[in-house]
Amino acid sequence: MAKSQDKPELIINGKRTDGRAPEDLRPIKIESGLLKNAAGSAYIEWGNNRILAGVYGPREALPKHTSDPEKAVIKCRYQMAPFSSLEEHGRTGPNRRAIEISKVTKEVFENVIIRENFPGSEISIFVEVLQSDGGTRAAGITAAAVALAGSGIPMTDIPYAVSIGKIGEHIVIDLNKLEDNYSDADVPIAFSPRLGKIVLLQMDGNMTKEEVSKALVMAKDAGAIISKLQTDALKAPYLKISEKYKDEAPSDPQQK
Ligand code: CDP
Repeated sequence: MAKSQDKPELIINGKRTDGRAPEDLRPIKIESGLLKNAAGSAYIEWGNNRILAGVYGPREALPKHTSDPEKAVIKCRYQMAPFSSLEEHGRTGPNRRAIEISKVTKEVFENVIIRENFPGSEISIFVEVLQSDGGTRAAGITAAAVALAGSGIPMTDIPYAVSIGKIGEHIVIDLNKLEDNYSDADVPIAFSPRLGKIVLLQMDGNMTKEEVSKALVMAKDAGAIISKLQTDALKAPYLKISEKYKDEAPSDPQQK
C-alpha cells in the first residue's frame, strides 16, 4: 500500500509500468522435479521472481513432541536468499515476515494434503527465494504445490496463488514490487480450484466488497492459466520419456 508521498504514476493510458493491462499476469515458467535428492521439487520464474521449492517426507516427525498421532504435520520454511533483493536477508535467521509467510504457506497445504494417511509423520516444504520482485508468497505457494504433487504426496487438489489489488481506481492482478509498494491494496490469495475454495486471503490496504468481487473474477481467469502451467510442468518429464521411446514400439507377443 501507499508508503510514500512521491507516488509514481503506476498506470498510464490503461497500461502498467511494465506494459501489462490490469488483468495481465507477468510471464510465468514452471519446471518440476529438477532436484535429485528432494522428494519433490519445482523452480518457478514469475516475472522477475526466481524461486525454488523442495519437499521432504513423509518421514518421522522430529522432535517427537511436534508429531500428531492422527495425521502428518506440515512444516514450512520460506526464506529469502541474502542476495534476493537490494536489502540483505537471512543473515540473522528468519525475520517476522519470513515467519509469517512460512505460516500461511503451511496453512494453505494443510487444506489439501491428505494428512490422515501419514499419522506420526511430517512433511516439510522449503521455499527458497533466489530473486524477488513482489508476489513471492504467491509464486512460492504455486511452486510448492507442484513440488508436492511431483513427490506423489496425496492431495485433494493442486492449489495456486496470485495477488490481486488496487492502484487508484484500477483493480489489478499480480502486483510487482513497485506496484506493491505504492498500491492502495495488495491481497495475496490462494485457491483450491477443484474444491472451489479460497485457502489463503491476506489483505494490506482497503478494497470495497464490489472491488474484491471484481478482483476475484480476474484471479479466477488468471488461475486457469496458472493451473495449466502447473499441470504442464508436472507432465513435462513424462512427455520427455515417452518422446525418447516413441520409435521403440513394444513387440507384439502374438507374432512370436
Ligand atoms: O513477496 P510478497 O509480495 O509476497 O511479500 P511482501 O512482503 O508484500 O513484499 C513485496 C516485495 O518486497 C518482495 O517480493 C520483495 O521483492 C520485497 N521485499 C524485500 O526485498 N525485503 C523485505 N524485507 C520485504 C519485501
